[in-house]
Amino acid sequence: MRVGVFGATGAVGREIIQVLGDRKFPVTELKLYSSPRSAGTTLKTPLGEKTVEAFHPEAGRGLDFCLLSVSGDFSRAHAKALAAQGGIVIDNSSAFRLEDDVPLVVPEVNAAAIGSSRLIANPNCTTAILVVALEPLRQAFGLKRVIVSTYQAASGAGAEGMDELLAETRRVLLEGGPAQARKFRHPLPFNVIPHIDSFQPNAYTREEMKVAWESRKIMGFPGLPISCTAVRIPTLRVHGEAVTIETERPVTAEAARAVLAKAAGVKVVDDVANAVYPMPLTATGQYDVEAGRIRANDVFGEHGLDFFLCGDQLLKGAALNAVQIAERMLPKA
Ligand SMILES: NC(=O)c1ccc[n+]([C@@H]2O[C@H](COP(=O)([O-])OP(=O)(O)OC[C@H]3O[C@@H](n4cnc5c(N)ncnc54)[C@H](OP(=O)(O)O)[C@@H]3O)[C@@H](O)[C@H]2O)c1
Repeated sequence: MRVGVFGATGAVGREIIQVLGDRKFPVTELKLYSSPRSAGTTLKTPLGEKTVEAFHPEAGRGLDFCLLSVSGDFSRAHAKALAAQGGIVIDNSSAFRLEDDVPLVVPEVNAAAIGSSRLIANPNCTTAILVVALEPLRQAFGLKRVIVSTYQAASGAGAEGMDELLAETRRVLLEGGPAQARKFRHPLPFNVIPHIDSFQPNAYTREEMKVAWESRKIMGFPGLPISCTAVRIPTLRVHGEAVTIETERPVTAEAARAVLAKAAGVKVVDDVANAVYPMPLTATGQYDVEAGRIRANDVFGEHGLDFFLCGDQLLKGAALNAVQIAERMLPKA
């Protein structure tokens, strides 16, 4: 397959290159694109060192897959034109996620939605991590309501977000405060910021609403009541999510643990007697979403469950999910 990675020098693009190699995606030709700023950079790839080129509008010619990880504006401007050049386009941005004729896919949940579409949207990272655990629980116990609080890493804001956290943490430790904020609304070191993306008229942020809108579409559950509070924390990668669900049928921690243990894309990490539970330190670089702290919820009684997820959002929330979609679209041998 001739594959193009658009946004190859970014936080997600670099992971896509790595995942293509790790999963032995059958790449015969790899084209890497960035803005003119990073053109000329060389990156290690499964096909050896490659030089990144500046994006140009004909860049999709001759490619079988275009994996886009640039921005919503870029995708709105170029995704459909790239698809018209012949390749399948898998887009990491939010540009098309809610469009009726564009599938929004997490393969463990709704691979069938891919159909014959040539443009597929990859979900918001927090959403992808959530639905791999939510859908099997829904299948087993029914789902009435969902409440989520997130603990989101700096890399969710891209390579600049990671750089800012590292540089500003160093500044505080070596020179004394105060830390500066450029990418984030407030300094992130030694802080948490309950503000990701813009505030909406309903007082939720757009990040929080994406979790609701996109989970409903992926799970095919348009009426699912879901409330999210999204918080940026000073970790480098992996999003944590504290989840409370109300179920239709009675649920126990034991039964939920058994369901999640069998769920594709989920790894139960839940041995509190030995202080074992999901953490960014252990979930970093992992394909599976860690699920733990599984317990009956004291508010909803036998119809309620609390649990904690940690998923590497650069992988399951972006690069891995995009490559998994591409794998499902490979021509049958
Ligand atoms: N970070 C996450 O956890 C995450 C998760 C899910 C989805 N996403 C989505 O994935 C996309 C990329 O996010 P990211 O975090 O990887 O961002 P990032 O680290 O800021 O990387 C952006 C990439 O796009 C390139 N780029 C910027 N403007 C361009 C242009 N005009 N033409 C061609 N390339 C251009 C950049 O190249 P230069 O190096 O030249 O600037 C860089 O390679 C976004 O839509 C984001 O919402 C991100």
